[in-house]
Amino acid sequence: MPTTSEPWKVGVLFSRSGFLALIEETQYRGTMVAIDEINQAGGVNGREIVACHYDPASDNQLFRAHSRRLLAEDGVRTIFGCYASSSRKAVLPIVERLNGLLWYPTLYEGFEYSPNIIYTGAAPNQNSVALCEYLAETYGNRFYFIGSDYIYPRESNRIMRDLIGSRGGEVVGEMYVSLKARREEFLPIMRDVRRIQPDVIFSTVVGEPTVYLYQAFHDFGLSSKTTPIASLTTTEAEIKAMGFDVGEGHITAAPYFEGIEGERNEAFVRRYKQRYGEDEHTNMCVEAAYFQVHLFKSALELADSMDPDMLRPIVLGSSFDAPQGEVSINPACSHANVWSRIGKADRLGRFRIMAQSKAQVVADPFLTGFVQKPA
Ligand code: ACM
Repeated sequence: MPTTSEPWKVGVLFSRSGFLALIEETQYRGTMVAIDEINQAGGVNGREIVACHYDPASDNQLFRAHSRRLLAEDGVRTIFGCYASSSRKAVLPIVERLNGLLWYPTLYEGFEYSPNIIYTGAAPNQNSVALCEYLAETYGNRFYFIGSDYIYPRESNRIMRDLIGSRGGEVVGEMYVSLKARREEFLPIMRDVRRIQPDVIFSTVVGEPTVYLYQAFHDFGLSSKTTPIASLTTTEAEIKAMGFDVGEGHITAAPYFEGIEGERNEAFVRRYKQRYGEDEHTNMCVEAAYFQVHLFKSALELADSMDPDMLRPIVLGSSFDAPQGEVSINPACSHANVWSRIGKADRLGRFRIMAQSKAQVVADPFLTGFVQKPA
C-alpha cells in the first residue's frame, strides 16, 4: 500500500526540441507553473504532484512510445500533453487501450471524441466561426489558405471553406507546405498571393515555419492593413520569434491573450514572468496547459485517486476561474467551454482585443449548431 505522503505522479509530454518546441515549450512551462503553485499550497490531500517528463522532440513516433512507457511502465494514469493533432491521434489509441487520461491543451479541428481525453483548447465553433465573421466584415471574403501539410490544417480549411461559402465568399487559393518548411517554400506562394490579391490569408501553418511565412509576407512588401494573415495558432510566442514589426497588424482568434485585463490574469502573467523572465510571454497554449492542471487538481482532491474512471465523472461539468475568465468542461463532449476572442498584433508584440464573446462559448466540436446555408 502506498503511504499517504507518496507523491501523485503525472506524465508530461510536450516537445522541448524540434520544430514544435517554439510553442510546446510554453505548454510545458504552463503545466509546471500550475504544478508548482499547487505544491506550494500543500499539494493535493497533503501529497505533492510530481511530473514525469519525456521530450518527444516533435516526433509522433516518440509521442506514441513515451505515452506507452508512461502508462505501461512508469505507473502514470494522467498525461498532460500534445500540441499537434497528429501527435494526439498517435497517443489516442494508447490512452484508450491502457485506460489513461490525456489532457490536451491545444486548439484543434474538432470532430473527435474519446472518453480518455479532456480537450481544453478551442474547437472550431469557439474560434473559426468568430474569425470568419470578423475577417469577412472587416477585410472582405476572398480567402487564400496556407497550411502545414497534416490533419489540423486540412480539416480546419475544410471547415473554413464551409463557413466562407455560407457567407457568399470564396477560397481563391489553397497551398500546403511541409511541417519543417524553410523560408524558400513560402516564396512561390507569396508570388501567387501577390498575383491573386486575396482579402485575407488564412494560415494554418504551425511551429517554426510560422516565422518563415510571416517573414516572407513582410519581405514581399505585402501589407497586413489590406491583406492580413489570420490564424488560430499564431500566438505571442510565434510573434516574438518572427519579430514584432513582422507580426504587426496580423490577426489571431483565441480564447486567451496575454493582455486580458483583470487581476486573475495579471497575477498569472506576473508569476509566469517571475519564473521565466520579463521578456517571456504567456499565450493561449500556456494558459490552457495551466488551467487544465487546476481542473485536474480539483477532481483529484475529491476522488483521492488517479483512476480515470473515478476522476472523469468529477471532471465533467467542473469549472475553474481561469486567466481567460471562467471555463468549464462540457459533460456532453469532454471539451472545455472557453471564451472566443479576436486579437490584432501591435508593434510591441501584444494582441489588441478587437472582439470577444460575452461569456464562455459552449463547446460544439462536431459543429452541430452550424447549419450551412444552401448555395
Ligand atoms: C493542432 O494541430 N491542433 C494545432
